[in-house]
This record gives sequence, structure tokens and C-alpha cells, in this order.
Amino acid sequence: MPRRKSSPEKKPDIYRVTTSDDIEVSTYLELAKELHGEQPVAEPKLPPGERETIVVLDFGSQYSMLIARRVRECQVYCELVPYDTPWDKIAPLNPRGFILSGGPASVYDPGAPLPLPYIYESHLPVMGICHGMLAMAHHLGGRVDRGAKHEYGHTILHLSDEESPLLEGLPSSMPVWMSHGDQITELPPGFRTLAYSENSPYAVVGNDAGIYGLQFHPEVVHTADGKTIFQNFVLKICGCKGNWTPANFISDSVDKIKDKVGDGRVVCALSGGVDSAVAAPLIDRAIGNKLTCIFINNGLLRRDEPERVLNTFKRNLKMDIVYVDATDRFLDRLKEVTDPEQKRLRVGNEFISIFEEEAAKLGKIDFLAQGTLYPDVIESTSPETKAAVKIKSHHNVGGLPARMNFTLIEPLRFLFKDEVRNVGLALGLPEDMIWRQPFPGPGLSIRIIGEVTRERLEILRAGDWILMNEIKNAKLYRQLWQSFAVLTDVRSVGVMGDYRTYGYLMAVRAITSEDAMTADWARLPHDLLARISDRIINEVPNVNRVVYDITSKPPATIEWE
Ligand code: XMP
Repeated sequence: MPRRKSSPEKKPDIYRVTTSDDIEVSTYLELAKELHGEQPVAEPKLPPGERETIVVLDFGSQYSMLIARRVRECQVYCELVPYDTPWDKIAPLNPRGFILSGGPASVYDPGAPLPLPYIYESHLPVMGICHGMLAMAHHLGGRVDRGAKHEYGHTILHLSDEESPLLEGLPSSMPVWMSHGDQITELPPGFRTLAYSENSPYAVVGNDAGIYGLQFHPEVVHTADGKTIFQNFVLKICGCKGNWTPANFISDSVDKIKDKVGDGRVVCALSGGVDSAVAAPLIDRAIGNKLTCIFINNGLLRRDEPERVLNTFKRNLKMDIVYVDATDRFLDRLKEVTDPEQKRLRVGNEFISIFEEEAAKLGKIDFLAQGTLYPDVIESTSPETKAAVKIKSHHNVGGLPARMNFTLIEPLRFLFKDEVRNVGLALGLPEDMIWRQPFPGPGLSIRIIGEVTRERLEILRAGDWILMNEIKNAKLYRQLWQSFAVLTDVRSVGVMGDYRTYGYLMAVRAITSEDAMTADWARLPHDLLARISDRIINEVPNVNRVVYDITSKPPATIEWE
């Protein structure tokens, strides 16, 4: 009998929008601990024959990246590639199966994207999702038509074949997420129906050769049991072992980095953020003192942050760090500057100048290490992002290579954020560094409205410190994408101990988000907000009023400037 799954756990009530990341993040942490304990792991090598890849062919769906994430959650390596990638690029990946994503086109559109014949000729299992399924049905002699009714959103799926390996362990009826106009009206020869919904008689189909099609989207969180479908396909049907572990990733990367770098030298800018914090010790493990890390303190970091970064890398990881305290230079560049774009540009340019000066002191350097992640790689190849209107000039280390003559080395280029965290844990990085919330390159300069001065930085740091402590004490730090204080240039009248005050207004912002593209303000408990406000007023000089920012993104952005 197939196992039945219990209903998903209820999310904390500070969320209005549920996010898949938070479920994954805690699962990954437990998994990493289970696998590795608290200690850095040993590095078992994976023989080349044991490497296995699920290839996700991208037909342009907005959810393609999510498919890749779901496969990785099964601890199986996968790559997302354009639907028309030729076989000679696929074969070296040692594919064990294909997943065909959805996409906006109809199979009857002129030039509609269709899979190449190798997906059938390779005799590997295939799972087509939405357009992926329709494209296969069209190829294999079935019929696809405009549905009488379009289906968007939740619908109930009923299993008609509970013995199918793809559907093992699923309840006999379950909510799934549909988003389609076309549908199959006649099955290709050899296929049968495995599940149906009210408007889709062929909601899940399959044949004996291991080719499956799903009309709905198992990759989105709204399909509650989608994860089981991926596990069934990847582990049972494709026979993957699920050996894509942080330890294997580390040993693989160490070999690759050694090969690539040879006798060359590598420089890496540490920002204090998770990505460079994981990339640096990974490269260090491969090439030791051929790597030099540069950590520039721009004077715009949170309280105790420079000390924390230095402690982690110098003391815990015994890495060699060039530390540059450039506070004076940055504050000089920001003198009397109030325009947000000017602040961003000045901080970014100053950073590049200092980095160039420091790198020049090191002699000949061949490579620049960067913590680029898979979502950045996928986004930078997607045409939609090119037309985006500029809202803010983001400053990060990504601005460096354009001006400097380095070859890039990006060991995290095929990882998602939660995988990076697991690798960091396996490398022995402390948890508080791994779970650090994102922090912008221009630092506190864009959280001070108006001029950035030493005095105003100290006020903001003091308020921000209290906020952080209270959020951490309430055990909400990891559930929030970001939480921070903003020092405004508004002053208002107050009364303290029978005296009139005329102090600054400090804003508190806490948000939930999946990817920072959109965000919702967090429904923090009122008593927590009260405690934060009381403490800021009582402990931070010159602040006499605290407000909570209840604006989502859009229309606001996450940072105030
Ligand atoms: P916004 O304010 O645009 O922020 O909604 C989106 C996310 O990006 C972070 N952010 C930055 N990160 N350099 C960075 O590395 C920057 O210049 C920068 N500006 C904003 C912000 O904290 C949020 O997570």
C-alpha cells in the first residue's frame, strides 16, 4: 500500500505569504547536522561513475529554477539548461533522467520550443511538466488542444493509479497548482492516465518506458506534496543515489580549483556576507597560501562586524587576511552627500579603488574569486532581466572584474543559497556567519537618511544592535529575510523626565521574502515591537521616537535608499 503523507506544518503567523525557503532552510540545517554533526566533515571522494545529473530542460517557465531546487533537495545534482541544448553538451553530465519544464508557448505556435529526439533515444526516464508534457504528447502521436476551460490556481488531483511509482506515497486526492490553457485530448499510444482533475482528464500520464507527464506544477509550494513526486521520479524511477552532499561537493571543488589555479595566485574580497565567506575557505582548502583574502572595513558596518569577520577567518579558520581599515577614506567621500545614488556610487568606487591598491601590493595575481550563485548565473542568461529599469545602483564585489585584468573563479556558481549554507557548515564556518541576513554593499550609509557622519553612524549602530538582539532573543532572526534599523533625518518633540526633547526618529524594518525581488513586512508580535521601541528610546541618545515600517516591496524597496 502506498504510504500516506501527513498535512504540511502550519507556518509561523508572522507570515502573510508562505515561503518555501523557510521550510527548506530548516530541513537543510537538520540534514547537515545529521550528516556532519557540528564538526567539519571528512571528504569521501565520489568515483566519476557515481556522479549523476538530472537534466532540467528549460522551456521558459517562470518556475524552471524551482524545478532545479526541488531536485537538489533530493540530494541529486541537476543542471538547468536551454531546451535545445545539444546532446554533446548533455552527455558529459552523466544524465540519469530529464525533466522538461513548462513554458509560455503552445505546441502549435510556429517555432514552438520542442524537445530534441535524444530525450527519447537515450532511453532515460523523462518527466514533462505542463508545456513539457504537452510537447511530448504532441511528438509521440497524441493530441493537444486548447482546453474548454483554462485552469489557473488550485485544483484537486485524484489518483487513478495508486500503484504508479511516480505517485507512490501520495494521498488519493490532493491540492495541486495548475496554470495552463492547452491540454491533452487524446493520449499518445502506450500511455495511460495516472491521475485526473475536474477539468483535466489527463492530469498525470505515463507509459512503461518511464516517460511521464504532469499537467500541474509539482515544483511550486502550492502543490503540497510536490516534493514526494520529485523524490519518486529522481530516486526511484531514475535510480539516483542521492549522493550530492556538501562533502562530495567540497572534495569535487577542491580538485577543480587545484586544476584551474595551478601555480597561479588568487585574490578574494571578503564582504562578511555568506557567499564570499563560503567561497574563501573552500578555495583556501584547495590552494592554501596561494589565496589572499582582502577585507576592507568601510566604516559602514554593523556594530562588532569587522571583529567578527576577522575572528572567524583569522582565528577559527586560520586564514591569512589582509585587513584594511578604510573608515576615514569612506567617510571623507561621503561628507555632505545626501543623495542616495551618490552615496551608492561613492562607496562602490572607493571600494574598487582600495581593492585595486591592495591587490597591486600583492604582486602578480591571476584570479579573482567571487561568491556568484546559481540564481545569478541563471538570471544573467535570461533575456527578461536585460530590459529591467534601474531602481538603484547595487554595489557589490561584482563590479571588480570589469576594471581589473583577472580571470574569475566562482566555485559556488552551481549552488543555491541553502546549498551554500550547508557547504559552509561542512567547512566549519560558525552558524551565525552562515545564517547571516543579507547586508547591502553600501552598508549603513543607505540606512542613514541625509548626511552620514560618525555621530549618526553611532546612533544607528546602537539602535540596530538593540533591534538585532531582540529579534534573536525572540528566535525570529532566521525566519526574517532582513531586520534592521534606519536613522531618519526627521526630528520630533518628545518629553522625557519632565523635560522637552527634540530628537531623531528611528525606523525599524523587518521583512519576509523569498528572493528580495518582492517582500512583505513581517507581522512582528506587538510586545516585541514595544520592547524594541522602549529599549531604543531609553538606551540610544538623541532618539525619542520609533516607528515600524509597514510597507511591502513593491511599492517600497527593502532598503530606504
Ligand atoms: P532593495 O532595497 O533594492 O534591496 O529592495 C534588495 C536586496 O538587495 C540588498 N541590497 C544590496 N546588496 N549591494 C548589495 O550587495 C547593494 O548595493 C545593495 N542594495 C540593496 C538589500 O539589502 C536587499 O536584500
